[in-house]
Amino acid sequence: MVVTCIEDLREIARHKVPRMFFDYAESGSYAEETLHANRRDLEAILLRQKILVDVSKRSTATQILGKPVSVPLALAPIGLCGMQRGNGEILAAKAAAKAGIPFCLSTMSVCSIEDVAEEVSEPFWFQLYVMRDRKFIRALVERASAAKCSALVLTVDLQVLGQRHRDIKNGLSVPPKMKIANLIDIATKPGWIISVLRAKRRNFGNSVGHVQGVGDNTSLAEWTNSQFDPALNWEDVKWIRSIWKGPLILKGILDVDDAKLATEHGADAIVVSNHGGRQLDGAPSSIWALPKIAEAVGNKVEVLFDGGVRSGQDVMRALALGAKACMIGRAYIYGLGARGEEGVGEAIGFIRRELETTMALTGVNKISEIGPQVIAR
Ligand SMILES: Cc1cc2nc3c(=O)[nH]c(=O)nc-3n(C[C@H](O)[C@H](O)[C@H](O)COP(=O)(O)O)c2cc1C
Repeated sequence: MVVTCIEDLREIARHKVPRMFFDYAESGSYAEETLHANRRDLEAILLRQKILVDVSKRSTATQILGKPVSVPLALAPIGLCGMQRGNGEILAAKAAAKAGIPFCLSTMSVCSIEDVAEEVSEPFWFQLYVMRDRKFIRALVERASAAKCSALVLTVDLQVLGQRHRDIKNGLSVPPKMKIANLIDIATKPGWIISVLRAKRRNFGNSVGHVQGVGDNTSLAEWTNSQFDPALNWEDVKWIRSIWKGPLILKGILDVDDAKLATEHGADAIVVSNHGGRQLDGAPSSIWALPKIAEAVGNKVEVLFDGGVRSGQDVMRALALGAKACMIGRAYIYGLGARGEEGVGEAIGFIRRELETTMALTGVNKISEIGPQVIAR
């Protein structure tokens, strides 16, 4: 198959990744209204064609948090990345380093902070979920610091878990529950089996040995709800700010007042995000929320964006509405499931080249020139 875009990678991944984990990546919460809104609202933004502008010196290079990047993209934190393909976190981090963009490791990753740091020389970001056991959280922050992580991404929109129907129906657990239906499905994915058997780990690398009940086959939903802290509040943000000395990014902001509070609590950047439509169903799409937030706090913090980005055209839309850069989740997970490290590199490459072409056709040469003028009104 000739692969030319993210959708092609998705189609390959659909055949290569066991259904339980492919569905986990695809799904949104409840009726998936917000999941669909993310795409629908991006697609509704029309780009303004601009002709006869000299666009011979285009560059997608820019900076995120003061660090040079080849394209305004970062790989979003993805729980269970290493179940899309064995050692998935290491493969994705390597692809990101090669492409010159940041990789963000999830608290809920399979490979641990130390596993990734050992294999990848480029510094990566670490995403933190705050669990009830604050000693464990402090230890995680210290581990991220020891591994020289270059930013801490505090996710603030998952103190309780939005229900994904397919995860429950598939019996999603780590390691996978050996139900007959799952066994039959996994048996048809030999490449995945080999990659996972050869991988460093098959459980939650950051938590195993630290948190009870990890990796003993409890469902992901049950485990999350028992460990995550519904009491999480702005005082905890103050505490995290005091124990983490590097750049702090607050991820999961959809509201102008919350964005202002984030800046007051010392965030260096925020991610306008609805968790890829996986948390509050009925929440607005991220792109709907972006312009108001960027206008309110864009001169105080870096405003990053995620939710539904599948192409360079989408990156252009988000940048035009005030984002400094985008994070991609599913777009790279499809690449990983389809072709490992190479597939993640392809996913980033597709988006970079699409952005470059889109810049040409909208008449801009530099990322800093992208603004509301590229949108057709
Ligand atoms: C399979 C999957 C797992 C995710 N796991 C996490 C996670 O562990 N931590 C987190 O902050 N966000 C997590 N997210 C949300 C992503 O970081 C990101 O916000 C979202 O994927 C962006 O939407 P997109 O997939 O449409 O690009 C996850 C998303 C997906 C699809």
